[in-house]
Amino acid sequence: MKRALKIVGIILGILVGIVGLAAAYIQFSGIPSYEVHPPDLKVQGDSAMVAEGKRLASMVCNQCHLSENGKLEGKYMQDLPEMFGKVWTANITQHEKYGATGRYSDGELAYLLRTGIKRDGGYAPPWMPKFPHLSDQDLHSVIAYLRSDAPEVQPSDKVHPASQPSFFAKFLCRVAFKPLPYPTAPIIAPPITDKVAYGKYLATAKVDCYACHSHDFETTDIMVPENTPGYFGGGNAMPDLDGNIIYTRNLTPDKETGIGNWTEEQFIKALKFGMRPNNQMVRYPMVPHGALSDEEASTIWAYLQSIPAIKNDVDKLYDKPNN
Ligand code: HEC
Ligand code: HEC
Repeated sequence: MKRALKIVGIILGILVGIVGLAAAYIQFSGIPSYEVHPPDLKVQGDSAMVAEGKRLASMVCNQCHLSENGKLEGKYMQDLPEMFGKVWTANITQHEKYGATGRYSDGELAYLLRTGIKRDGGYAPPWMPKFPHLSDQDLHSVIAYLRSDAPEVQPSDKVHPASQPSFFAKFLCRVAFKPLPYPTAPIIAPPITDKVAYGKYLATAKVDCYACHSHDFETTDIMVPENTPGYFGGGNAMPDLDGNIIYTRNLTPDKETGIGNWTEEQFIKALKFGMRPNNQMVRYPMVPHGALSDEEASTIWAYLQSIPAIKNDVDKLYDKPNN
């Protein structure tokens, strides 16, 4: 009996040792690196592309990269949940040494934005979004904007402290979050006249509503968004800038808990101007998308009306203890 216990003890000891070594490895080797295979790309941007890239950035990059100085020079990510560590977003201005646009080629920018692999091979962690379904035209517009003479992207020598991702974040980047494949065929957006398809393109590829508005970031299916658990059913817990938890809302057509009873006009007002039908303002981290045209907002509405309804009463989540 004693001997058996001793053997069990030894085996447990060895297991604890292995887990400890694995943990030490993850802790000290940090976020993994990968090979970089940027495409051979030289974006020929015209003024229309620069304008579109600027509009897109205002909806999907600025919230993280735009500083108080009005430049895309990066800043501290105040609303990143503490369990992921302390993170600064990158300086992506044209500064040759300190800005990503200054250092990266067009191909390297495209490669990073699609796959999540930076120029130096490092993996950009999950809090830097990836754009695997963005059309080539829109992707090239973002690059044309980053290279343009717009004031936000002019060289800034801002240098941030090194980010300190937590053990948990490093662990996730080893086991759960991997670089995405670089597309092998051109990606073309559907025409805006095909409302449902175009609305889906906006909501899952271009302005990305689904990741926030589904159940949990950790179960987002980036490659096949509609396979994400709780797709558009809301309830994803997100801290605001003061650390209060705000749950994303249910945008499915469910009549009781979703937006099935809303009118298209009410939806567009909430989306573009942050005003709900009950006259309450939509709170951060939802930011009003005033840069969308009414026609675009209308396609998102058409798409959301076409997806399966999910019953999920988000208001009830606020009643749970510990909130
Ligand atoms: C939710 C926040 C967030 C959004 C939105 C976001 N980024 Fe980032 N981005 C980051 C963070 C954080 C990093 C730093 C990653 C790291 O340290 O590895 C980063 C890194 C980068 C880099 C790499 C910089 C380098 O030094 O290698 C580029 C380029 C970049 N982002 C461009 C963009 C563009 C273009 C958009 C919009 C299309 C965008 N980002 C949207 C958070 C964000
Ligand atoms: C960064 C995460 C995030 C993104 C991206 C996002 N939302 Fe939201 N959204 C939220 C949160 C959180 C709320 C809840 C705010 C509140 O309760 O005050 C919300 C609320 C809303 C509401 C109000 C619904 C209601 O029941 O009152 C609408 C409509 C909406 N979002 C539509 C969209 C659309 C369409 C997109 C894409 C263009 C989008 N959101 C992108 C986080 C996000």
